[in-house]
Amino acid sequence: MNKNFVLRGFGRYAPERILTNADLEKIVDTSDEWITTRTGIKQRHIVAEDQAASDLAYEAAKHALSQAGMDASELTHIVCGTFTPDSVIPSCSCRIQEKLGITGQMCVDIQAACSGFLYALQTARGYLMLEPDSKILVVTAEVVSRRVNWEDRTTCVLFGDASGATIMTANDKDEDLPELVDVMLGADGSLGDLLAVDGGGSAHSYKKGDVIGDEYFVRMQGRDIFKHAVRNMVGVSQKLLAKHGIDKKEIDVLIPHQANWRIIDAVGRKFDIAEEKVFCNIDRYGNTSAASVPLALSEAVESGFIKKGDLVLMPAFGGGFTWGAGLIRF
Ligand SMILES: CC(C)(COP(=O)(O)OP(=O)(O)OC[C@H]1O[C@@H](n2cnc3c(N)ncnc32)[C@H](O)[C@@H]1OP(=O)(O)O)[C@@H](O)C(=O)NCCC(=O)NCCS
Repeated sequence: MNKNFVLRGFGRYAPERILTNADLEKIVDTSDEWITTRTGIKQRHIVAEDQAASDLAYEAAKHALSQAGMDASELTHIVCGTFTPDSVIPSCSCRIQEKLGITGQMCVDIQAACSGFLYALQTARGYLMLEPDSKILVVTAEVVSRRVNWEDRTTCVLFGDASGATIMTANDKDEDLPELVDVMLGADGSLGDLLAVDGGGSAHSYKKGDVIGDEYFVRMQGRDIFKHAVRNMVGVSQKLLAKHGIDKKEIDVLIPHQANWRIIDAVGRKFDIAEEKVFCNIDRYGNTSAASVPLALSEAVESGFIKKGDLVLMPAFGGGFTWGAGLIRF
């Protein structure tokens, strides 16, 4: 079954505070030169004291709703991708619902780390197949800054905070809107140790009075992640293109998960995609995990980088180890 599902409006938000590489030089033993040449990152946005993931998601949701010309009350589901929710309970999606001032919708969080947007899109597609009248807010938001160890230069320079959103519906009225052609996902739990956040989980719980240690923060094996990231983003994208009989030459725009410019570049080369067709905003945001793909999508649409008729490929990977690819025809 290949239903015609469309995306109405793309929204994004990044907190006001900017942390540059020069600022980081004052916090850990690093340099703008190291960060720039190894990752392409120049700055990242960091939440204010009183902001949590649902606050960022709320702003992106409002942006997407206004782009779609819709009111929040029309929504039937909220699907939120995040690994940094405000709280364990309630879910981030319930918090977003409350902030939007609506009730009754089904609300669910998806945890697939940096692949979260693609996992959320696929989940929304499933709901739409069950209930074709659904109007689903697909939103991702991350406050990674609260889960990185600001004394660990190998991780803290890489991440930032942001959110992104879109609204998925069926295309009953045959409207000329961006169509979600397909999504393909995968995971390999045996690679879970490559990128992990243990502290606070039921296997690493805290007793009253415990001091938070390194286990509370993101730990990762950068080199191995790099290798698996390229391999799996390329592999799943090839499978997705083959499923639809699409040649790599037909891809007009590549919007990969923004983790590292060298990973993005390696994926682009595998598909012979010219650099000017690869959207990259990692220099301004760093790795914003699940938020990175919709944040990039929203910027690429608004800036005219994506044009009517373009076929956009979105590969992503993340902790878990998870991966996926999505195709949108604009
Ligand atoms: C993290 C990453 C940029 C590191 O680049 P790399 O070329 O693999 O560098 P290495 O980890 O081998 O480290 C090289 C050296 O730089 C040092 N280094 C690490 N972080 C540093 C920093 N912020 N500033 C300066 N030096 C740093 C290391 O200590 C090491 O020093 P040594 O050779 O004296 O031991 C790269 O591996 C990467 O991007 N991996 C993917 C990570 C990722 O995407 N994670 C998120 C997944 S969603």
